[in-house]
Amino acid sequence: MTPTSNDIPALILGTAMWGWTMDAHICFSVLDTFYEAGFRGVDAATNYPINRQPEDFRLSERILCDWIKTHGVPDLRVMMKVGSVDNMRSPDNNLHKSFLLMCLDDYRELLGSNLDMLMIHWDNREDESEIAQTLEALALVCAAGLKVGLSGIRFPEAYAKANEAFNLDFYIQIKHNLLQSDYNKYKSFHGERRFLAYGINAGGVKLNAADYASQSSLSVRGGDTSNQSPLIAGLKSWLDSQQAKHVSDFNQCSMTYAYHSEDIAGLLIGPSKVDQLRDTIDFYNKLQQTDYQDIYNQLIELKKQYAGAQ
Ligand SMILES: NC(=O)c1ccc[n+]([C@@H]2O[C@H](COP(=O)([O-])OP(=O)(O)OC[C@H]3O[C@@H](n4cnc5c(N)ncnc54)[C@H](OP(=O)(O)O)[C@@H]3O)[C@@H](O)[C@H]2O)c1
Repeated sequence: MTPTSNDIPALILGTAMWGWTMDAHICFSVLDTFYEAGFRGVDAATNYPINRQPEDFRLSERILCDWIKTHGVPDLRVMMKVGSVDNMRSPDNNLHKSFLLMCLDDYRELLGSNLDMLMIHWDNREDESEIAQTLEALALVCAAGLKVGLSGIRFPEAYAKANEAFNLDFYIQIKHNLLQSDYNKYKSFHGERRFLAYGINAGGVKLNAADYASQSSLSVRGGDTSNQSPLIAGLKSWLDSQQAKHVSDFNQCSMTYAYHSEDIAGLLIGPSKVDQLRDTIDFYNKLQQTDYQDIYNQLIELKKQYAGAQ
């Protein structure tokens, strides 16, 4: 399957907060609900949760592997982001061919038929010959029947250039929400439905500051919970108006925006509770059944209106 073969964006379950704000029991309930609803795509990374607790390095994937073992499931489609060597939020990583091939062996062993894709997680290098060695490993990942992807690439142009010799068909994770988007940074990869949007709620923004729990995702990740952005205020009054009768909260606005954005192949969702996941799945179904293009256009207008005021 190439990135372009799906004509609507997929829903993919994120695991960045697993073992951090979400204990194993909640993670199991969330994945049970997701799986029972028929979804199979899961996003994972060696360094989740990135909570700067060394003892939690690889904890999120351990919970995922436990779930797979407990349920004996063979058909998840896990995209595993590799390269990081700790969960300290440092740029330290290992993208050498030998290390990546070791990761491939490791995750094939751990996830079996549930492993679907290997992705490079963060790369600050600009040197094309060094990147080419990383791509040599990814070419072997493809030859093993898996998909390949990129995430957090500082110099996408250098990757595009180095890839001329390999012609690999990457999926690419990008931060993409109403407040901020990395889409334009990846111009050399535009024109194909290959982008997977993360941070669609801007890391857990709530329209009303009073709705932030003490362990809200945004606050534990060091985000700004003061809700000073003029776009947030604009969205609130727009939602209160008649115009917005098809969307009722920030998550629905965020999903509409990502779902209808150009080249988006998937929405990486990060529900921290089963109730949030149910709302997200219900709204995803609505996006498929109802034409939200007009709401998307109104969101774009709001973005433009408040762009200079961010
Ligand atoms: N490639 C990368 O570098 C990268 C970076 C970040 C994330 N990701 C992937 O993308 C996934 C999602 O990213 P993210 O956590 O930043 O996503 P996000 O959607 O911006 O934030 C998730 C938070 O939004 C709130 N939320 C989610 N669904 C909701 C709903 N239905 N109703 C109300 N609030 C809702 C929750 O906050 P509360 O818990 O506070 O309620 C939740 O923890 C991650 O798990 C990870 O797999 C990849």
